[in-house]
Amino acid sequence: MTLAARISGVGRYVPERVMTNEELEATVETSSEWIVERTGIRERRIAAPHETTSSMGTEAARRALASAGITGAEIDLVITGTCTPDGLFPATASAIQNAIGATHAGAFDVNAACVGFLSGLATGAQFIATGSAERVLVVGAETLSRIVDWTDRGTCVLFGDGAGAVVLERAVPGEPGSIDSLLLRSDGSQAGLLYSHGPCSPLVDGLQQEAKIIMDGRAVFRQAVTMMCDSATEVIARAGLTVDDIALAVPHQANMRIITAMSDRLGLPMDRVYVNVDRYGNTSSATIPIALAEAEAEGRLKPGDRVLFASFGGGLSWGAMVIEWAGVGSRRLVAASAARSAGA
Ligand code: COA
Repeated sequence: MTLAARISGVGRYVPERVMTNEELEATVETSSEWIVERTGIRERRIAAPHETTSSMGTEAARRALASAGITGAEIDLVITGTCTPDGLFPATASAIQNAIGATHAGAFDVNAACVGFLSGLATGAQFIATGSAERVLVVGAETLSRIVDWTDRGTCVLFGDGAGAVVLERAVPGEPGSIDSLLLRSDGSQAGLLYSHGPCSPLVDGLQQEAKIIMDGRAVFRQAVTMMCDSATEVIARAGLTVDDIALAVPHQANMRIITAMSDRLGLPMDRVYVNVDRYGNTSSATIPIALAEAEAEGRLKPGDRVLFASFGGGLSWGAMVIEWAGVGSRRLVAASAARSAGA
């Protein structure tokens, strides 16, 4: 099943404030060496007090629109993958839709924890494939620092804030750019391994439970490797490809050891796996679009490349996707410049 949708723009935004491992040494009983050895993380970004998931998502969205060469008014739908929305409602996507001037667009959020961006991308691609939309903006944005328990060394070293975004648009027959296969899965029986309460969670002794990340790291680690590898293997096969056809994997950036385990098990060398977990930690829904935007900026993608996405997170949930890279720049612009050259 190939979906005729292509990524035509990418953008990312991370807050200015860098929090190093050394800073965490001062607040919890840990060491930078332990964090680097067990996770690969050296630093993460922390949102400024005035920043929100929608403000960071908006900045990433503006950059994705600029990379596609289009305006917000040309977007039909804004989907935001997030588990740290600005509020319970309205949707964070509506704030982004307004800020970018997407005056003809629908907007909604997708919460699938760290699989939020992939779930949004899968949804957006299907809106395009069915003909309901021509251009969809898919954002992954998180302000996890506001739900991290800064006294829990088992979790506070792992997470960070940031946002990434892509413009998805209709693919052109005969040109590179497609969603070749996708898979989304969930096992809600394992919800207790990684979760956060919210304002509508059951009251305990009449009291609201604080929103903070609670995780059994060891159990999540074990599941993560299996989920990433199994789903990646399945989407590669469903696309009629082999691992050798994958030019670049852009996996969820949670832990360097999970990424290298995936690389080993798939037989996909690390020079074809994009990594930036050292600089940002785990930004949940934002990891894949941030990494994709950086990979594009570094010239690691060329039209026709097959790119693998794989992710896992709370739910438990997991998923993977193979796309054919189209190169950035909206096809509408390509058509306009072709018409100009033909006229010249
Ligand atoms: N600094 C120092 N020691 C720490 C620590 C820290 N930040 N966090 C945990 N430890 C300790 C533990 O308390 C434990 O001590 P003990 O043996 O005295 O009980 C020891 O280190 C080993 O703990 P363990 O949980 O087995 O370590 P680990 O190698 O599994 O690494 C994680 C812990 C959290 C880094 C790892 O399990 C992990 O990354 N899991 C996946 C988490 C994840 O990706 N979540 C997001 C999913 S989207």
